[in-house]
Amino acid sequence: MTEHADQLAERCRVFGLPVWRISIEGKVLAGPTDWGPATTWIESPALRNRISAAAADWYRQTPTAVQLFPGAWLLPIHETDTATGNSYLVAVMALGPQAVVGETFTEICHSARLDVNATHRVISRLARYDDGDLDSLAATLRVLHTDIQTLRGHDETVGVFSRELNHAYEQISLLYKLGRSMNWLTKPDEFIQTTCNLLEGMLEFSWIAAMYATPHGPTARSIVLSEGSALPCPRADFERLAATLLDGVREDHWRTILEPDGSDLAKLVGSQVIAEPVMAGGHVAGLLMAGNKVSDDPDVTSVETQLLDATADYLGAFLHNVALYDEQRDMFLGTVSALSAAIDAKDRYTRGHSERVAWLASRLAIAAGMTAEQAERVRIAGIVHDVGKIGVPEAVLQKPGKLTDKEFDLIRQHPVIGYNILKDIAPLNDVLPGVRYHHERWAGGGYPEGIAGERIPLFGRLLAVVDTFDAMSSNRAYRPAIARDRVLSEIANCAGTQFDPELAEAFSAVDLTGYDEMVARHAAREREAA
Ligand SMILES: [Fe+2]
Repeated sequence: MTEHADQLAERCRVFGLPVWRISIEGKVLAGPTDWGPATTWIESPALRNRISAAAADWYRQTPTAVQLFPGAWLLPIHETDTATGNSYLVAVMALGPQAVVGETFTEICHSARLDVNATHRVISRLARYDDGDLDSLAATLRVLHTDIQTLRGHDETVGVFSRELNHAYEQISLLYKLGRSMNWLTKPDEFIQTTCNLLEGMLEFSWIAAMYATPHGPTARSIVLSEGSALPCPRADFERLAATLLDGVREDHWRTILEPDGSDLAKLVGSQVIAEPVMAGGHVAGLLMAGNKVSDDPDVTSVETQLLDATADYLGAFLHNVALYDEQRDMFLGTVSALSAAIDAKDRYTRGHSERVAWLASRLAIAAGMTAEQAERVRIAGIVHDVGKIGVPEAVLQKPGKLTDKEFDLIRQHPVIGYNILKDIAPLNDVLPGVRYHHERWAGGGYPEGIAGERIPLFGRLLAVVDTFDAMSSNRAYRPAIARDRVLSEIANCAGTQFDPELAEAFSAVDLTGYDEMVARHAAREREAA
């Protein structure tokens, strides 16, 4: 029986009224169960046949109460199965005292091999309705039925609310998580990967993917798949599909729902694919896609499109922020580089020094096992490491002869001056130790603080090696450039005294071709300027 018919049967049981569910053809679909000692009589085929015969009439004319046999009545209630929409009838049997004394009662007992007297005692407890009670009983059943329907309506409303609430909660929770990660501006791939993974956990799709333009990446476009994605076709075909979809998106475009019976590409994925454009700063920046729904309902629902829509908006805002951040960073680094170059240019012997130190520092970082991301930070430290020279008089910086103690004191201040100039610039916070400590010595005795060993921050130790290498390799007011072999052996010899021995060792592995090209370029520029 359906849930609703069950509810009705349970209520009728309280009134001693067994019920049968009758099909449209008048067939008994389900009968009463668990009636204790009365079960065998109530479930007997003989009684069931009589009910079936009486119910058959209900389909020939408007169902009304019918007499099964003297003292026994069958009352109809119309029902509809909400799941299938099919109509059927519930037949309620009401017994009166006459029903348990007549021939039919005895016949049913015999057919079910029941003792008539014993059964009489059991069924008599249910035989509580007189013929005259029928109208009020039918009215009571109608009220009962209406109440159940009302309750069911409320249940459905609560169910719908609860599902909607659940969707809303999931959506808010997803957007909250994304909102918290929106500042991962230097790691767009990680943010987009996280987004795809979160969506995968919430939606019933076999794959979630995002394709987006990568202006600074090695390729023009990146594609990210949620970690558990199961693609329905080879990855290359899938990327072709995504690229075709992305190329087809115009700025006024709305989402696309690709049908599996559509284009050749759509056939590849073999299911509905939903593709939401990701708009950043008014331009199409990418596509968020989901496909191969694994659910009873293979079609994309409005709840799913809503969630993908909201997520695509977040992705758009994120990618827009990434572009702004990149632009700002490039502008900032451009300014810092120009500043450093201007300081280098104060002395013809140090022209291009910061650029070369930056290049060498990032190569040494990689040779020493640091990540590309760390190497980039070391490179920036290299660009700005001598910014403090802006506070040292030019006459001192460019003095060809030996410096006096006082002059040398002025030179020794440049790491701290540089540190003070840059310390309030948040994006440079992590490179400050490189600026402050690039003249410290591994064994101690350097400046400004004279600290030693690993107390000297890594960026400082690293810059110390490459700063010295470039200084020795360049012409100076007081001496010409020193030959490569001698410079390298000097670096090796000073491992453990001036330099961190591991970094001095790692430096020997750096390929200096790019450095030599840079030196040649700087020299050419110098000649042009002269
Ligand atoms: Fe310096």
